[in-house]
Amino acid sequence: MPELFEKTSINGMELSNRFVRSATWEGMSTDDGTCTPRLVALMGELAQGGVGLIISSHAYIRKDGQAAPWQLGVYKDDQIEGLQKMTAAVHEHGGKIILQLAHAGYFANRKLIGQSPMALSKVEGIGKGERIEMSDQFIKDLIEDFGLAGRRAKDAGFDGVQIHAAHGYLLSQSLSPAFNKRKKPYGGSLENRACLVLEVLASLRENLGGEYPILIKMNNEDFIKDGLTLEDALEIAVLLQEGGIDAIEVSGGTFISGPLSPSREKISSEQKEAYFREAGKRFKGTLNIPIILVGGIRSFTVAEKMLDDGVADYFSMSRPFIREPALIKRWKDGDLGKAACISDNQCFIPGHEGEGIYCVVEKKLQSKKQREST
Ligand SMILES: Cc1cc2nc3c(=O)[nH]c(=O)nc-3n(C[C@H](O)[C@H](O)[C@H](O)COP(=O)(O)O)c2cc1C
Ligand code: SF4
Repeated sequence: MPELFEKTSINGMELSNRFVRSATWEGMSTDDGTCTPRLVALMGELAQGGVGLIISSHAYIRKDGQAAPWQLGVYKDDQIEGLQKMTAAVHEHGGKIILQLAHAGYFANRKLIGQSPMALSKVEGIGKGERIEMSDQFIKDLIEDFGLAGRRAKDAGFDGVQIHAAHGYLLSQSLSPAFNKRKKPYGGSLENRACLVLEVLASLRENLGGEYPILIKMNNEDFIKDGLTLEDALEIAVLLQEGGIDAIEVSGGTFISGPLSPSREKISSEQKEAYFREAGKRFKGTLNIPIILVGGIRSFTVAEKMLDDGVADYFSMSRPFIREPALIKRWKDGDLGKAACISDNQCFIPGHEGEGIYCVVEKKLQSKKQREST
């Protein structure tokens, strides 16, 4: 029977347990996306806190792909030095870290990129303002840029990379009939919608070699009108497996999916936890590469049961680690109480205000305790 604290490996990357820190934008980079000492310290703290694999914030691979303020970037060689410090801090504590590679496409932040966002297609009724439709040549350059960003990640000492094809960003837009209205080669049939992601994977393989872990995060469903469906997602996952992907992190939803966004609120019971568990089981039953499940996992016992039931091989969390960077160490030491995060998403607020994300609930609690003790 597999166990949560057993050693495993993904394409040669050895992991000390089956817990993953899912990619989390921290809003702690410089204005141009360079890694800061604060981010380095946070990654070190996460590694020290026992999580088997850390996935960085989404890092934009071209300037026109920036989604959020103070987001991590990997679009120029000057950024390698800062990223090296990040990987060194993790390795110093025996952890593993991979870089999430992203382009925001339709949802790039027009103020930050200084132009209208580049999109695969213009779509009526989604988002305000002009989009510029990408030419096929632009897409070819973009694919090359993903490969170059992957090479920077490897040079900076990352143990692998993760392609961000979830949550409504560019590569997720490509897979989604709601956003991808192109004709071939990059639109139309399911195979054509998968073409961009498969070419990004091939470009990364060419740059990084066969023995370097390349993972992907993708939606099992978009939960929007005409969005990606579970059946289509499974077919695309098979194509990715055939294309040589090493593991798939299963997520779902987009920013415009309302309550069914990727970071759902009100996870008040074990039943509400792991909201993609049914989808995870379908992925696991269809594929023979490792499946990483994300989305509302809060209890050790829920993860344990999912491992036993063959829902997934790895269990990924984001918000629980914002509140408790040492959650996995706590569980390993025998305190199996569920994660303290109450999933109210308040941590996004300071990130957008330029303070970097932190657990607002925990901070209020600490202030209250301090007031009471004085
Ligand atoms: C502050 C914050 C930033 C996030 N940034 C990213 C990101 O950069 N890339 C990504 O794939 N998902 C991102 N997510 C989504 C999480 O990785 C995860 O899929 C989602 O929050 C559900 O997991 P959870 O319930 O454990 O938080 C972010 C979530 C939060 C709360
Ligand atoms: S503010 Fe704290 S408790 Fe609320 S979702 Fe974020 S990490 Fe969890």
